[in-house]
Amino acid sequence: MSDFRIEKHPILTPAAAEPITVTWKGRPIGARAGETIAAALFAHGERIFSYHHKDHAPQGIFCANGQCAQCLVLSDGLPVKACMEFVHPGQKLDPVDGLPVLPPVSGSAPLHPIDEITVPVLIIGGGPAGLSAAIEMGKRGVAALLIDDKHRLGGKLVLQTHRFFGSYDAVFAGTRGIDIATKLENELRAYPSVNIWLQSTALAVFSDKKVGVLKDGLRYVQIKPEVVLVTSGAREKSLAFPGGTLPGVYGAGAFQTLVNRDLVRSAGRLFIVGGGNVGLIAGYHALQAGIPVAGLVEALPECSGYKVHKDKLQRFGVPIYPSHTILSANGRTSVDSVTIAKLDDKWKPVPGTERSFACDTVLIAIGLDPVDEFYTKAREFGLTVFAAGDAEEISEASAAIFSGKIRGLEILKFMGHDVGVIAPEWYTTAEILKSRPGKTEPEAIPTEETGVFPVLHCVQEIPCDPCTTVCPRNLIHIHSDDIRCLPCFEVPDPAKACTACEKCVTICPGLAVVLVDYRKDAEHPTVTIPFEFLKDRIEVGDWVHVLDTEAADLGPVEVVGVRVIKANDRTVLVKVKAPKVFAKRIAGIRVQDAEASKPMDQYVEGTSDDVIVCRCERVTAGEIRALIRRGFRDISAIKAVTRAGMGSCGAKTCTALVHRLFREEGVPAKDVVDQPKRPLFMEVSLGTFAGTDAGAGNEGGDRGRI
Ligand code: FES
Repeated sequence: MSDFRIEKHPILTPAAAEPITVTWKGRPIGARAGETIAAALFAHGERIFSYHHKDHAPQGIFCANGQCAQCLVLSDGLPVKACMEFVHPGQKLDPVDGLPVLPPVSGSAPLHPIDEITVPVLIIGGGPAGLSAAIEMGKRGVAALLIDDKHRLGGKLVLQTHRFFGSYDAVFAGTRGIDIATKLENELRAYPSVNIWLQSTALAVFSDKKVGVLKDGLRYVQIKPEVVLVTSGAREKSLAFPGGTLPGVYGAGAFQTLVNRDLVRSAGRLFIVGGGNVGLIAGYHALQAGIPVAGLVEALPECSGYKVHKDKLQRFGVPIYPSHTILSANGRTSVDSVTIAKLDDKWKPVPGTERSFACDTVLIAIGLDPVDEFYTKAREFGLTVFAAGDAEEISEASAAIFSGKIRGLEILKFMGHDVGVIAPEWYTTAEILKSRPGKTEPEAIPTEETGVFPVLHCVQEIPCDPCTTVCPRNLIHIHSDDIRCLPCFEVPDPAKACTACEKCVTICPGLAVVLVDYRKDAEHPTVTIPFEFLKDRIEVGDWVHVLDTEAADLGPVEVVGVRVIKANDRTVLVKVKAPKVFAKRIAGIRVQDAEASKPMDQYVEGTSDDVIVCRCERVTAGEIRALIRRGFRDISAIKAVTRAGMGSCGAKTCTALVHRLFREEGVPAKDVVDQPKRPLFMEVSLGTFAGTDAGAGNEGGDRGRI
């Protein structure tokens, strides 16, 4: 049975995979070769992976990225991270109940000598920045080694079904993230000088200037690089609130991994916390996968993500609650509702504004932190090290592509290769691609009501220009070298007017361009709207609700055409006939019923249990606050007393939350002594360093084994 698999998706095509059988709690379940344990369990609706040894609290997935250890399960008796370890036929899977008891070992494992390899350039991370940098090495025949802990290249790009913003010329804007990953990978693989190790994790940087790597999840290798480029991306920030560790509360990136990479419907209905681009896009991805979204809260008065992302989510029927916060995720063993409230101007919940929504999943999308441990440590030990992409500064993946390219050239220059002068405009482009959304202009709806023309529902300055590149008559312009300025449609010569080719409608990453055609019926023009959902959700003769840019419902209109052609790259073009009084205001079609986002009749009060701050060790805010109030200022001392930060994630998840408690207690940051970073960046069995083959006898190797 595979009730929770996504068999049909508007953008993604499920790959054929060999069916295999594993057991979960002794019961045979179907899995697919090449998928992770987490994907196989979610495909069967299993969300509780373990029970904590301290209080027997149920545990589920949190990061789906190997960064934490919330998804621990037993695989053939050994604890592994379900998000990193693959299934294999006959595998015996069980939840971890308390501390796992390791099976007895007979004899000692054979040891092999530790290989040591010298490479001119080591690139840690095969996401957008790492790939772009490696391509620059490859173009010039420079030897480089690119390592990545996943089974395919692309990093976060492989999770993105939407078209990318940014510059069409510089970073493939207008192309879907998943397709950019393929383009970059194909280009890189054409260059033999770049060696690629997948499923290979950088474990540590040492003072003798070597980098320890677990190659293929199996064998420990030491690398001696002349130069290191760290492009290891970002990890999601955590948030502490009552119920915040229930299975069903996890990161938006984890959700995208489960839904868009693993093609499992990991949620029945979700609620999103955070209105940055990650949260807004996760909502969009949920709807594409057929998962209702009950709403999204953003603590700020405005979402910090792109307005076009917010607008389209609202138009699809997802309510957004600015100046609101989550009070609690509710449920006994996993999430069954969420409670939110309005915030006053001092960021305090306003009594009487509480509302609850039924949902089984709460996505945390409050921002990202750079995975920069490698960079910091390598610098400390005197290696020649560079960083690019999110590991250097959090920004859009398009910016990471470009910064990786620049950093690649800088490294080549540093190594003495002739790469010419890196054009100063490139640095300007890099800054533009990284920029936050700028000002929002009032929407200017065109006045004419004849012929055919696009209406650009694009009113916020963001780096984006694909619409200006596709018009065969060159009628869409940005009147500046700065692609953050707003595009406009102009017809200088009436003999060369719009031909209704629809290319601008198709390419806009924000789904913010529609085409209005008065030629056949000036009273009821035809409006062409982009639609990135399953085409069988809509057909000619249907009546649909259309909405304006700000999601005001303009009323029902009839669908008169549904155009699905290969050239549109999976964007369905829906034509509706609308009264001219609002035709030009139409920006999109509602896809989700109001029922999906209706609040519950009564709000649910969260449990009175103190909020967990360190999820690995189940340490509460109250325990840590008490120590701060007693005068503790050294986080290592707090760790020694409470175990906060001593868990298997290496304190990556809770450190920022502990700092926040200090701030809330009024302790100046300068008085707080941080804990030293652990020397290993990722958990690994100790025998690995001695030269045992870490995962011998196990197809998955040691990637997820801890
Ligand atoms: S959350 Fe992992 S050590 Fe605290």
